[in-house]
Amino acid sequence: MIRYLTAGESHGDSLTGILEGFPAGVRADRAYIAGELARRRGAPGRSARQSAETDPFEILSGLRGGLTTGAPIAVSIKNAVRAVPEPSALPRPGHADLGGMLKYGLTDAGLVRERASARETAMRTALGCFASLLNAGLGIKASSRVTSLGNLRTVTARNAADQIERARRNGDTLGGEFELVFTGVPAGLGSYAHADRRLGARLGAALLGINGVKGFSVGSAELTAAGGKEAARRPELSGGIDGGVTNGRDIVLRCAVKPVPGLPGGAPSRDLRTLKRAAAVSRTSDITAVFAAAVIAEHVAALELASALLEKFGGDSLAEIKPRVEAWRKRTARSINR
Ligand SMILES: Cc1cc2nc3c(=O)[nH]c(=O)nc-3n(C[C@H](O)[C@H](O)[C@H](O)COP(=O)(O)O)c2cc1C
Repeated sequence: MIRYLTAGESHGDSLTGILEGFPAGVRADRAYIAGELARRRGAPGRSARQSAETDPFEILSGLRGGLTTGAPIAVSIKNAVRAVPEPSALPRPGHADLGGMLKYGLTDAGLVRERASARETAMRTALGCFASLLNAGLGIKASSRVTSLGNLRTVTARNAADQIERARRNGDTLGGEFELVFTGVPAGLGSYAHADRRLGARLGAALLGINGVKGFSVGSAELTAAGGKEAARRPELSGGIDGGVTNGRDIVLRCAVKPVPGLPGGAPSRDLRTLKRAAAVSRTSDITAVFAAAVIAEHVAALELASALLEKFGGDSLAEIKPRVEAWRKRTARSINR
């Protein structure tokens, strides 16, 4: 089983992550990790902060000669923006601010924000890159695309840029949806035996764990509208997981992301010291998180798939796992209904 933990605050010194249970013999491709961090950082709709961040990362343990050793992998990412905002008793609606202040007895919403911030997803992306590299070594590839942005139902680079610019001018933000596809996934990952072993439930927990992700589904957007007859004729609609187990087809996942709650013009709030109404202003918010969330999703879902692969095939090194996966693919190829 692969496990991971992260630590660190949005404007602290750095983010720290530990990845445990990861097999030996996977090349830690630093250029790839840097590239994926840049994809997250530079996704459309992000704020000016992202041009200040460069996500310099260090891999502190678990590697020898560029290859993973099977030991826990520790990663550190430095924050460039470290100026902690002034204390504020104004919780921003749509954020963890109010619940977090009440929960931990804090008078400064900033203490909640610092950890609840999606800055932490830079580390989840970095750790997830290891899983993506393992999966790629086993022939599994991820891709994602944004399928809606605000009221746009067909999203192109051009119309997305226009929509984002319009929202920026109106002091508004946007939500949207993305689709995530994994190809080359062997049949038999996950299980129907218990709810918490169903692969869809595991992927859902990982993806709903991304800040702002409010909806998750397995299968094509057409699945629920199709009748049973059509769904039977077109098994690809069910998105590669039936009964909690992969069936050898592409995995298709869909996520809905809420509009970024931080508004430059301020959102209605109440000062928790004085209980007076006031606007909670977010000067540096992103316009939309949907494009960045899609990148993060590729890698957090990859961690879940890599974990399920290790449960099915066992093995402590890529050299041990790979022939098992290949032999299984050969054995099951003829039964897979393409
Ligand atoms: C990559 C990324 C960037 C985000 N940037 C912002 C932001 O700049 N401002 C903001 O208010 N919310 C931002 N969000 C969304 C919030 O983190 C999220 O809405 C908040 O945590 C509450 O959502 P939740 O209820 O799903 O946790 C971002 C989310 C992601 C994934």
